[in-house]
Amino acid sequence: MTKELPNIAVLGATGVVGREILNILQENNVQYKSIKFLASARSAGSTIEFKGEKHTVIEATPDVFEDINICLASAGGETSKKFAPIAASKGCVFIDNSSAFRMDKDVPLVIAGVNDEDLRLHKGIIANPNCSTSQLMLPLKALDSKYKVKRMVVSTYQAVSGAGLKAINELTDCTKTNLVGMPYEPSAFKYEIAFNVIPQIDSFCENGYTKEEMKVTNETRKILHFSDDIKISCTAVRVPVYIGHSESVSVEFENPINASEARELLKVTEGVEVIDDIDNFVYPTPKDAAGKNPVYVGRIRNSIAFDNGLEFFCVADNLRIGAALNTVRIAEKVISMELY
Ligand code: A2P
Repeated sequence: MTKELPNIAVLGATGVVGREILNILQENNVQYKSIKFLASARSAGSTIEFKGEKHTVIEATPDVFEDINICLASAGGETSKKFAPIAASKGCVFIDNSSAFRMDKDVPLVIAGVNDEDLRLHKGIIANPNCSTSQLMLPLKALDSKYKVKRMVVSTYQAVSGAGLKAINELTDCTKTNLVGMPYEPSAFKYEIAFNVIPQIDSFCENGYTKEEMKVTNETRKILHFSDDIKISCTAVRVPVYIGHSESVSVEFENPINASEARELLKVTEGVEVIDDIDNFVYPTPKDAAGKNPVYVGRIRNSIAFDNGLEFFCVADNLRIGAALNTVRIAEKVISMELY
């Protein structure tokens, strides 16, 4: 390592994902020269505790990016649209959690450990994929390398924390209200989320899929460099779980596949942990994944619907691999590959 350590910043440091980014920066002992904590004018001047010390939150303004080399951003799409181009023009590498730039051809969309070489193509902005796409990439890349994906159908069961603090509070309030027999007026969701599931995440597109569902299709293709011939479809559902997205995944491959061989492959895939012993009722659940880094895979079985098909259930902490962890891992790659 010859380059001077970077000055870094966390934009959205007061948010749900921003706080998780701070936890992981500390856990992973990421090395930097200086760190800034950025948010909106609303929380500027407040303090944040990091590594046992109190730090003042600074309002994000164009000038702040002057001497920042790497910004880890999770402050919503509009904030990213406003600041990412400014930051990039000042020589800062802006790692963005929002969907604002993900499909931009000049912006690498990266899962660390899956398509790191794409980072070399960055022009100042790097995008972190959507949470549902993210957790699927580690197992899918391993399976694709050996068996070649032909077609995939995914159903998601997504935790409320993916929709921010307001949604987390709404699950609590709605549950308490329902338990005393009262109806609840939802605002973060279209319907009551307690004791319910909601088959809509984000708005609907013309083809009847939601934007969230199309993210899985389009982002998977971009990350794994799949052609349009590979067909991918998703149904995304919100469930009353605080942390941890689950996915039921059916994949058809070009090459013959059998479940026990696939299980062995996934057992040695970095970032993936296989929890799969149905004789003892062992499979992953979101409670196992909350607060942890691996993508857990279980219920691995040969598909009875597809030739050369595999079915599995995949669970991960949506705030970690689906957001903060991958953002920090990208920053670590940018530092080790000296791309700042
Ligand atoms: P603030 O706390 O000042 O509102 P969440 O997704 O949990 O709601 O968090 C969103 C994060 O993005 C918060 O840290 C929030 O800061 C930050 N944020 C929202 N709007 C802006 C903005 N215009 N400029 C900078 N940060 C913003």
